[in-house]
Amino acid sequence: MKTHKLLMPLDMHLHLRDGVMLENVAPLSAYSFSGGLIMPNLVPPIQTLEDVKAYKERIMATIPNDYFEPYMTLFYKNYDKAFLAMAAPHIMAIKLYPAGITTNSEGGVSSFKLDEMRETLEAMSILEIPLCVHGESDGFVMDREAEFMSVYELLAKNFPKLKIIMEHITTKEAVAMLEKYENLYATITVHHLYLTLDDVVGGMMMPHNFCKPIAKRPQDREALLRVALDAHPKVMFGSDSAPHPKDKKESSGCAAGVFSAPIALQLLCEIFDKHNKLDNLQAFVSDNAQSIYKICPEFKEVTLEKRAFEVPQSYANVIPMYAGKTIEWAIQSVE
Ligand code: DOR
Ligand code: ZN
Repeated sequence: MKTHKLLMPLDMHLHLRDGVMLENVAPLSAYSFSGGLIMPNLVPPIQTLEDVKAYKERIMATIPNDYFEPYMTLFYKNYDKAFLAMAAPHIMAIKLYPAGITTNSEGGVSSFKLDEMRETLEAMSILEIPLCVHGESDGFVMDREAEFMSVYELLAKNFPKLKIIMEHITTKEAVAMLEKYENLYATITVHHLYLTLDDVVGGMMMPHNFCKPIAKRPQDREALLRVALDAHPKVMFGSDSAPHPKDKKESSGCAAGVFSAPIALQLLCEIFDKHNKLDNLQAFVSDNAQSIYKICPEFKEVTLEKRAFEVPQSYANVIPMYAGKTIEWAIQSVE
């Protein structure tokens, strides 16, 4: 049987939520990943050091038997220098949301005024705290990411020492930006390597494929595939696995988010294998993130095998991407 080993897989964009949902989903990520960059969009958002420390403890309490490092983040606001110096040892990055653009982002940034952001972004540059950005404008939904490129340019130009991560990129425009500015990096999800808008609304409306940013055109997906399959050194895997209870997805107002964490590595193996690029998967799913974030995760080896695997219909009250579908790779063992 064909197998493939991955060392220290990392998920550099992960929503674990809180409470019962956290207890349900965190062990699933901890099983197959060495660590993950934990998103701060709780209600209320993670904005103090106490929040960071307490949330990390709640995460750790749900995974007593697995080694898993939650790399913590703060929800962006215009923090002052003194606070950031104190926070730096406890966080891996700060996540910026444009206000109201997605789930629990109401407290985000409502206009990108450099003078207001300067102290924070300069301090982050000096302290080497990367800025992770949800890059969408408030325009037409298919154009939101492309329209946001001007904001990335503004930030990248004005803060050349700031590492800026374009989160969950979905367009060829974002891929092109990687070459334009040295300090721009990106995460790519597994669902955006598989889905286009057709898989969301092309036939029947598929709520479990609905997320922000929404899946785009085939040519956008091709552009993402190109840099992911080549493990471009400025891109890394971030699932943006974003669980919502079934009734919030299968509802007249469907929450945005694809829950992919438990099948992410399997789907990555499948698509890298299909393109004869399995040799590049290690870099995409771990090595690039280790260099970009300067992290050194503890040892974990995941062995995957090429055999039919039926994706569970649900994980408690959360429906995963491709529920009930047979995919081509499965996890054989984790050491
Ligand atoms: O689809 C999404 N879901 N996109 C986001 O940016 C947030 C996430 C969530 O928290 O549910
Ligand atoms: Zn996210």
